[in-house]
Amino acid sequence: MERFLPDDAATAALGAELAASLKGGDIVVLQGDLGAGKTALARAIIRILAGDPALEVPSPTFALIQPYDTPRGPVLHADLYRLGDPREVDELGLLDNPGAIVLVEWAERAPELVEAATVTVHLAIPPGGVGRQVLIERN
Ligand SMILES: Nc1ncnc2c1ncn2[C@@H]1O[C@H](COP(=O)(O)OP(=O)(O)O)[C@@H](O)[C@H]1O
Ligand SMILES: [Mg+2]
Repeated sequence: MERFLPDDAATAALGAELAASLKGGDIVVLQGDLGAGKTALARAIIRILAGDPALEVPSPTFALIQPYDTPRGPVLHADLYRLGDPREVDELGLLDNPGAIVLVEWAERAPELVEAATVTVHLAIPPGGVGRQVLIERN
């Protein structure tokens, strides 16, 4: 599925749509350059899963992983940009709970996660910088 997201609201609406289709065990890999909207989309997804439109969803850039307990089950939001070595990903336990919904930015840092993805979202800033282009693949 390919779509143009003209503004932040469109990104949030896509997050709500995606959240409705996710279930425990889904591993969503969010790809795209810095500022493409990976965290913005993850935030929108997590807020819907949590049933809390105002939920604080920080970028897990420094913590690497941020867990949430939601009515839809455990949700893990990770950003592997600062992962030192692909082998360190095991210590984060991202794949330890088969019932969790996992959202991962910079999964490219840990190829086993890219392999495990059930949904891949590519976000891109189009030439000119207005809006975002998104491509979603279910594996
Ligand atoms: N559809 C959109 N059109 C324009 N700007 C957007 C859109 N969706 C999100 N943004 C903005 O793009 C930026 C994305 O930042 P962020 O989600 O932190 O990116 P990333 O996690 O990919 O580095 C935010 O400033 C957000 O407001
Ligand atoms: Mg981010």
